Amino acid sequence: MPSPTRAFPWSHSREGLPLERDTSPEWAPVALEHLDRLLVDHAHCEQKAASAALALIGRFPGHPGLARAMLALAQEEIHHFRQVLDRIEARGGSLTPPGPDPYVHALRDWSFRHRGGLGPLVDQLLINAFVEARSCERFRLLAEALLDAGSVEAEDLGTFYLRLADAEGRHWEVFRDLALEGDARGAVRDRLAAFAVAEAEILAARPLEPRMH
Ligand SMILES: [Fe+2]
Ligand SMILES: [Fe+2]
Repeated sequence: MPSPTRAFPWSHSREGLPLERDTSPEWAPVALEHLDRLLVDHAHCEQKAASAALALIGRFPGHPGLARAMLALAQEEIHHFRQVLDRIEARGGSLTPPGPDPYVHALRDWSFRHRGGLGPLVDQLLINAFVEARSCERFRLLAEALLDAGSVEAEDLGTFYLRLADAEGRHWEVFRDLALEGDARGAVRDRLAAFAVAEAEILAARPLEPRMH
């Protein structure tokens, strides 16, 4: 029996996030209808998040706090990757090769076409911040849909996404705070606001797919 009055630790799925636009309400039903595909895409997201965090250390080793923050984040993302892979395999599935990543490419492309003058590190941190924030919003939507679905299996997966939404919400703040290190805080805030508008347009142009972005 569905439980429509369940309380979640957010009043709106974008609460506390820099996002200007809601994911379409049609997305979660599509995602749950193609749950195996969604989980494989999700596993790739976690693996890419870990790899991207380690790559940032190699590119910007001198940025204050970056190496330690990215090391901790990579460890957490690897843990998530293992957990999602466990779930895929428990369902009889396996990883397939990752497809292209049009959402991330579009964010990167926007940042190249609209230079903010803050350099490549700030833009990369803000791109990662939006990837984490959008993941957080979508994990919340999945948690809501699964925990209202009523089956034991859905309850278990919904609880998993509830925990992951919390983690991705923290991760967006890690990237935002690293971007705000230094003297150009006002300019970084302006850049973040410009990214938010661009991200909303990029999201609006994405087709409805069982993917995290
Ligand atoms: Fe993660
Ligand atoms: Fe993350």
